[in-house]
Amino acid sequence: MRTDKIIFPVKVPYSTAPDIIKLKDDFSLTPISDGTFQYKREELDVFPSDLADEIMSDDLLVCYNKITTNYNLPKATSIKELALYVEEDVAILALGKVLAICFCSPSGFIPSQIVGKSFFEIHQPIPDSDLLLKMSAKMGSLLSDSTKGPHRRHVWTITANPSNNQHPSLKDKYAPKVIDDLYFRTEVQTTVPLGDNIHALFSVKVSMIPLKEIWNDDEKKNIILASIDSMSEAMLEYKNLKTIKSILNSK
Ligand code: HEM
Repeated sequence: MRTDKIIFPVKVPYSTAPDIIKLKDDFSLTPISDGTFQYKREELDVFPSDLADEIMSDDLLVCYNKITTNYNLPKATSIKELALYVEEDVAILALGKVLAICFCSPSGFIPSQIVGKSFFEIHQPIPDSDLLLKMSAKMGSLLSDSTKGPHRRHVWTITANPSNNQHPSLKDKYAPKVIDDLYFRTEVQTTVPLGDNIHALFSVKVSMIPLKEIWNDDEKKNIILASIDSMSEAMLEYKNLKTIKSILNSK
């Protein structure tokens, strides 16, 4: 769990509409710290076949070359190698299709299971996502378009699992009862076109803090309550927020 400065991207009402913005600042991957290196190695040991996979090809090696050159990293010949050089979780897309992924801090999904899937297929299980699914083909090409990107979006949730890794097998390990059992989790997601208008880097930086650290701030607390209140039952179920919603609303 990281406790450095955390963003607050909570919106009311909650929405799954495509919410990317063009990134104005320069983007760079961050050279990995000793702590994150150790964390990633441990998670990869526990979930060896779940957290990383790739469809190897010459095109993919060209992508790795471009990324390591652009961000001044040692040469990488696999997504796992690349991921172990940087703080962020990383994936490679081709017009929205996932060619490679190494996510040691996934939200509630198994990264290797989305390799080979299109933007549409990945997002199909998400409730209330008609607009996102309708725009999938457009999103896939937009994210790789060098004249349009890089793009950024922010994600948040509340969870009882204190680890950055929210692998689905850990879902029932925690039985939260009070605010002190909960964590506020955010992701900064960035897509960076790799120059051929087909391939893009997808990078995700996860941060988590104990929820109680923001629960004293009435404005933030009320925004979270209103956003969760605006979610459909299907969305609450999908995001594992049903029990959490009742804890948040109990006096
Ligand atoms: C940049 C444009 C993107 C948009 C607008 C978008 C939108 C969304 C939305 C609305 C959700 C559901 C709620 C949430 O957690 O926010 C979601 C979940 C998800 N997205 Fe995306 N997404 C984007 C990019 C990607 C990419 C490139 C991947 C592939 C690596 C991806 C993989 C997923 C997965 C696996 C989930 C399910 C997470 C879970 O069940 O915990 N998304 N996305």
